[in-house]
Amino acid sequence: MTRVPVASSLPDFPWDSLAEAKATATAHPEGIVNLSVGTPVDPVAPVIRAALASVSAVPGYPTTAGTAELRAAAADALDRRYGLAGLAPSAVLPVIGTKELIAWLPRLLGLGRDDLVVIPELAYPTYEVGAKLAGARVLRADGLARLGPERASLVFVNSPSNPTGKVLGVDHLRKVVDWARERGAIVASDECYLGLSWDAEPVSILDERVHGGDLTGLLAIHSLSKTSNLASYRAGFVTGDPSLVAELLEVRKHAGMIVPLPVQAAMTAALSDDVHEDEQRERYRRRRDVLLTAVRGAGFTVEHSEAGLYLWATRGEHGRKTVQWLAERGILVAPGDFYGPDGTDFVRIALTETDERIETAAARLR
Ligand SMILES: Cc1ncc(COP(=O)(O)O)c(C=O)c1O
Repeated sequence: MTRVPVASSLPDFPWDSLAEAKATATAHPEGIVNLSVGTPVDPVAPVIRAALASVSAVPGYPTTAGTAELRAAAADALDRRYGLAGLAPSAVLPVIGTKELIAWLPRLLGLGRDDLVVIPELAYPTYEVGAKLAGARVLRADGLARLGPERASLVFVNSPSNPTGKVLGVDHLRKVVDWARERGAIVASDECYLGLSWDAEPVSILDERVHGGDLTGLLAIHSLSKTSNLASYRAGFVTGDPSLVAELLEVRKHAGMIVPLPVQAAMTAALSDDVHEDEQRERYRRRRDVLLTAVRGAGFTVEHSEAGLYLWATRGEHGRKTVQWLAERGILVAPGDFYGPDGTDFVRIALTETDERIETAAARLR
């Protein structure tokens, strides 16, 4: 047999193509403002760090299912923060950051060559990677019209969206759920940015108005990376249809996909405390106000961007040209084509820099 390296079936890592623009931006005499990635820059809250340290002497293996405290804290947080009442803690499963879950979900669910995975037309790149790791086909479609007669096994939705910041309303999500139910497809809703809304109220797939009291076939994926600044800890969870979550747990137990105990304790603290989360949201709100005004003032058109951590902006030219224009001003952003062919004329501008760097970017744009 000839071995085929898995990497050969995957797309090129898009950030490699930004090296030249990064060098240009870095050469700015007052330094680079890097708005190309959504990585948090504010410190982890003391209450979370204390929880992490509190179990650092424990030597034994943690459980894949997570501690009872963590599962209860996640269910409580979804109820308190988003009004999602009645979720069973036993249907919460911690993951080693949600990128890990997304990349392996199609495989963990048993999808293969005969299956189709539907992803948003403009999408976080890992949905496609996940489908490819399972050997499944991928189709980009935001609406049912684009799907035509295709039969899908798994549909990813992402509201608020990365990269566009678009929010899908109850009606849209309900249509997706109804469509998937009629065809036996699973809906995985990536709710990474649900807690970061500015001009629209995002809705979870687990909202009663969306599913009408039946969680069958539904998974909600929640990251603590952005709302609690825990990207470095690798902390997230999945919940929804109890039988699907039990199935995922079974495979993940065999595969050793276990969240470290100190991170489980940190997640429990983060999910039990809303103060640090509110403070972080307000930091991003202020940064967004500064950047949005500056970007518009510089002649950009900003579309969507009503929630989440990005401004989806265009100067009416190819996004790569805009990347270069901004790089010459010491500002690095991501070209829209990273996220799908429909993004060619856009750039994605992240809000994840310090107040000082955001002010610097705004001053350079003025
Ligand atoms: C839409 C979306 N989903 C998931 C993730 C992954 O987050 P993490 O692996 O840190 O939980 C990101 C990170 O940027 C994202 O933008």
